[in-house]
Amino acid sequence: MARLDFPKDFVWGTATASYQIEGAAKEGGRGPSIWDTFSHTPGKVVGGDTGDVACDSYHRYEEDIALLKKLGVKAYRFSIAWPRIYPQGTGELNQEGLDYYSRVVDALIAAGIEPCATLYHWDLPQALQDQGGWANRSTIDAFVRYAETVFQAFDGKIKQWITFNETWCVSFLSNTLGIHAPGLKDLQLGVTVAHHCLVAHGLTVQKFRALGIKGEIGTTHNLGWCEPYTNSPEDVEAARRSRAWGNEWFMDPTFKGTYPQFLVEWFKTKGAEVPIQPGDMETIAQKIDFIGINFYTGNYGRYKKNEGLFDCEDVQVGFDRTFMDWNVYPEALYKTLKWVHEEYGDTPIYITENGACYDDTLTEDNRIHDELRTAYFRKHFIQCHRLIESGVPLKGYFAWSLLDNFEWAEGYRKRFGIVYTDYETLARHPKDSYYFIQKVIAESGLDA
Ligand code: FCB
Repeated sequence: MARLDFPKDFVWGTATASYQIEGAAKEGGRGPSIWDTFSHTPGKVVGGDTGDVACDSYHRYEEDIALLKKLGVKAYRFSIAWPRIYPQGTGELNQEGLDYYSRVVDALIAAGIEPCATLYHWDLPQALQDQGGWANRSTIDAFVRYAETVFQAFDGKIKQWITFNETWCVSFLSNTLGIHAPGLKDLQLGVTVAHHCLVAHGLTVQKFRALGIKGEIGTTHNLGWCEPYTNSPEDVEAARRSRAWGNEWFMDPTFKGTYPQFLVEWFKTKGAEVPIQPGDMETIAQKIDFIGINFYTGNYGRYKKNEGLFDCEDVQVGFDRTFMDWNVYPEALYKTLKWVHEEYGDTPIYITENGACYDDTLTEDNRIHDELRTAYFRKHFIQCHRLIESGVPLKGYFAWSLLDNFEWAEGYRKRFGIVYTDYETLARHPKDSYYFIQKVIAESGLDA
């Protein structure tokens, strides 16, 4: 059995997001977000579930932090809900919102855990959506103002900042595919929203530097891997388009200040164009201190005329699949991060999310024997180790998620936690995967 040791300074952590765990949707002066509107719209979320209560972490954060401490993590990634800080998106500041996150941050620091904050994990104030949301350029200014407020409030306490979580989801999944809030279906809208979020990211990094905030700032893109099914030029091109939609479309502007031209042309044939204003691309490509990557899955793609946006169909080749129907393809994590390093250079990389959904059962003594999730983590840790060995600057790993939570359009049925949430009592029960990760952290490695 080979022993895989991780560097002593490797950052182990777990991740969550405000709307998925906090609940208390109407407390503490919080304004409504697009996810309140969306989840309360019949037919949008499985089972009609909403984040009104979620895991009630707004009230139970101390319990959550105790779980983190026992787990032994060095860092905790959470998100700040913009509508708790500016209930209307702009205008009046809600001090109670800042106070809530101060309590969380202070409790994390007291527990010896580094807070890592995401500024935008999808809960856009509804008041801004009413004016066009991210398709309206003035949302960018509102975002930078909000970012400035939290930077100043937590300067010196939060030392790792992520501007956006998964700009692909914010833009295309939400505004082109209509699956996430605000649930719109328009290619041009997706392209525009993506661009505005990228500009907002760049301006926020500039603001961070101008204010002299201590710590590091980066962004998180959700990358995947689409392998061509055969070597035929049609398959290769189809898989390339499909992959570039999630990868290069976001990574190229972030690092190179350009969009992948072949996809720009492809979108043009579908009537969509990027609304670039002078200076935008330079703004986007601010130097960042790290890149966050959320990785879950990969697939094989084959050319098929009129299949999806890219004439590319997903081919099943026999991977095990999770309860989300996502392929378990750990090698794709290796391929993706290798590619990131080769294509975009030596910027430190953090896996800001990785994990798996399975249909857990609670035993009578409140245990969850989640062998499949544990195996998923193990396989991906092995790939992380391989990446580090091969010289990829992978600095940390945040498991998604600390606890089962509101899985967006899938509601509560889809569990990703390493801690089980009993939605009747809101009790938390660590799963076997939690104890597995606890051991890996304690030993700074694992037997492969
Ligand atoms: C990612 C999201 C995260 C969670 C996982 C399963 O796309 O960032 O909030 O829902 O998927």
